[in-house]
Amino acid sequence: MSISTESLLKLIEARRTCYLFNPKEQMPLTDEQIESCLQAAIWAPNHKLTQPWRFWVLGEQTQLELASVYAQLRADKRAEPGTENHLAIYNAAVDKFKAMPRVVLVGQVLAEDVVVRKEDYAACACAIQNLQLMAWQQGIGTQWSTGPILQAEQTYQAINQQADKVELIGALYMGHLRGDCSSQNAKRKPVAEVTEWLA
Ligand SMILES: Cc1cc2nc3c(=O)[nH]c(=O)nc-3n(C[C@H](O)[C@H](O)[C@H](O)COP(=O)(O)O)c2cc1C
Repeated sequence: MSISTESLLKLIEARRTCYLFNPKEQMPLTDEQIESCLQAAIWAPNHKLTQPWRFWVLGEQTQLELASVYAQLRADKRAEPGTENHLAIYNAAVDKFKAMPRVVLVGQVLAEDVVVRKEDYAACACAIQNLQLMAWQQGIGTQWSTGPILQAEQTYQAINQQADKVELIGALYMGHLRGDCSSQNAKRKPVAEVTEWLA
């Protein structure tokens, strides 16, 4: 193993959830970069090798389609439909979603068995973390969002999936890092506080 213990810990500690990305027009994410993140994702541990993760990398057309779903949900939550405020929120949200350099949706194939289902969710979360670390290593930031577009019927239609077969568990907003990612989250309780070493 060529990577040192220090380097690995440094990478893990440095990764932050990111909300600010460089504009995709100037700094697009390449398909190769996304592919490398997905390659890391699929090596996550998963019990009984169920490999429950599925990924949808949005192209321009689908991202545009989902921008209006995202904006509608956001505006409906924050303002009275038909008002100027609603329209302003809607338009700003469309622009925000369209501007995301890349969006990857992550879904979990739903097992019948409740125990397997729980384990599969854990496996998918591990896959997302692998993906985020691989992205970070390349200067790419990620925000794992569990926002309302994941529950919207139109989202499932856009990716041609049925909600009773696959559950969307994350929208990953990805882009080249712009500035400092919220240092407010760069804190954790020390290991000693969350660990008991037993006799
Ligand atoms: C299951 C899960 C769901 C999350 N959902 C959201 C979300 O909807 N919106 C968001 O901004 N961040 C979301 N996050 C990111 C967390 O807010 C973030 O990891 C946390 O603030 C710690 O910051 P860090 O990732 O920079 O360490 C989610 C993270 C996880 C693990």
